[in-house]
Amino acid sequence: MAVVRKARIDDVEQIYKLIDHYAQQGIMLPRSRELLSRIIDTFVVAEEDGVIVGVGSLCKLGDDLVEIRSLGIAEGYKGRGIGTKLVETLLEEARRLKIRQVMALTYEVPFFESNGFRVVDKGIFPEKVWTDCIYCKKRHACDEIAVLRRLD
Ligand SMILES: CC(C)(COP(=O)(O)OP(=O)(O)OC[C@H]1O[C@@H](n2cnc3c(N)ncnc32)[C@H](O)[C@@H]1OP(=O)(O)O)[C@@H](O)C(=O)NCCC(=O)NCCS
Repeated sequence: MAVVRKARIDDVEQIYKLIDHYAQQGIMLPRSRELLSRIIDTFVVAEEDGVIVGVGSLCKLGDDLVEIRSLGIAEGYKGRGIGTKLVETLLEEARRLKIRQVMALTYEVPFFESNGFRVVDKGIFPEKVWTDCIYCKKRHACDEIAVLRRLD
């Protein structure tokens, strides 16, 4: 069974590879090893038999808004509740920070809906949400859907 825990610096290589797998398919934004090392404290991982099988991170965007980023489950491990466990851990972290709004940009709407998120208009979010988009090939034709969960 996968165990979810805070990421450590020695997880960087495995996190990098998992994200890169989906980045190459255009599903996730690429993250360099250097960036991952710098923001490793924002990541949680799911580990099974010493292997990282899922990752996710929380990016603070404002006093009352965080974004779930880089959420990915390794091929062969999807559909076993690991993504849900990671999201629950990230929501717990948002609660600890007393941040009430958690958003994500995604193609996986049913997954987020089953975790209590709802689809919202992208226009409701501040400029800061879009700063990462310069790294995305699709920035002028973004087809990702914004989802939001309020924690009150
Ligand atoms: C999306 C993703 C993170 C989901 O993780 P997961 O571990 O497979 O999801 P879970 O097993 O926790 O599924 C939870 C629920 O969502 C549903 N679900 C998951 N993916 C789904 C999909 N593509 N379509 C419909 N329902 C889906 C499951 O059926 C389950 O519902 P249930 O509890 O009613 O049975 C994973 O499939 C993934 O890594 N995808 C590729 C990368 C990606 O798109 N990441 C999202 C970037 S924001």
